[in-house]
Amino acid sequence: MSVQIKSNRKTIVDIKKMKAQGEKIAMLTGYDYGMASILDECAIDIILVGDSLGMVTLGYETTLPVTMEDMLHHTKAVARAAYNSLIVADMPFMSYQSSISAALINAGRFLQEAGAQAVKIEGGREFAETVHRLTVSGIPVMAHIGLTPQSINQLGGYKVQGKKEDAAQKMMEDAKILEEAGAFSVVLELVPEKLAGEISQALTIPTIGIGGGVHCDGQVLVVNDMLGMFDKFTPKHVKKYANLNVEIRRAVKSYIAEVKSRTFPDAEHTFK
Ligand code: KIV
Repeated sequence: MSVQIKSNRKTIVDIKKMKAQGEKIAMLTGYDYGMASILDECAIDIILVGDSLGMVTLGYETTLPVTMEDMLHHTKAVARAAYNSLIVADMPFMSYQSSISAALINAGRFLQEAGAQAVKIEGGREFAETVHRLTVSGIPVMAHIGLTPQSINQLGGYKVQGKKEDAAQKMMEDAKILEEAGAFSVVLELVPEKLAGEISQALTIPTIGIGGGVHCDGQVLVVNDMLGMFDKFTPKHVKKYANLNVEIRRAVKSYIAEVKSRTFPDAEHTFK
């Protein structure tokens, strides 16, 4: 079934203009209707339906098991909530790597069935032709280089990328090639601040950093991380703007205690 894009949403043209005008871009991930409604009402520039949902909402150890059907399901929920923000959907592992025609068919589903306005693809020059074919077909692409979690088995861990001179140079070249191929923006994940700044300077399209430092044209965080939903481990690049884990535990424990002690429901919450 096709979907209607709500007309006041930001577009990729607005996002590119923000860089030209020196306005920083704020992006957060979102995975469901409730959270996306809050993000959209707060006027976040971009909501990314990230495949991090595999780890954050589905309980997988990596993003690799996430399927197209998982991504479409969550993107539809987020898109229903979005009146203001640009909606970008992550292409999951193996939805675009096998062939350009697979990439076209799968990316098209995000726009046609789920209400996203753009897709995100992990990888450098090896996906330049894919980026080109998608963009000339009317599917805007956000590129993603640096630490690319779908390649975790190749990279051997969630480590900062581009520290050595040759890796830094390759990343710079990849960024330029992806811009040339038609990407409208590029995520820089776990990249040294200086290199991320140099890439941001070299490109006309915006860079969006996650662990990329302040010189990127925008920032993205996983919403559950910045809200402090987890108490186990906080990566260095994550700033917690709230501590919801503690708040939720407090609320749930109060509820349990009140049910057990028969103080909930009280008169105020009961029908006569
Ligand atoms: O899946 C995701 O949430 C992402 C961001 C961290 C950039 O790719």
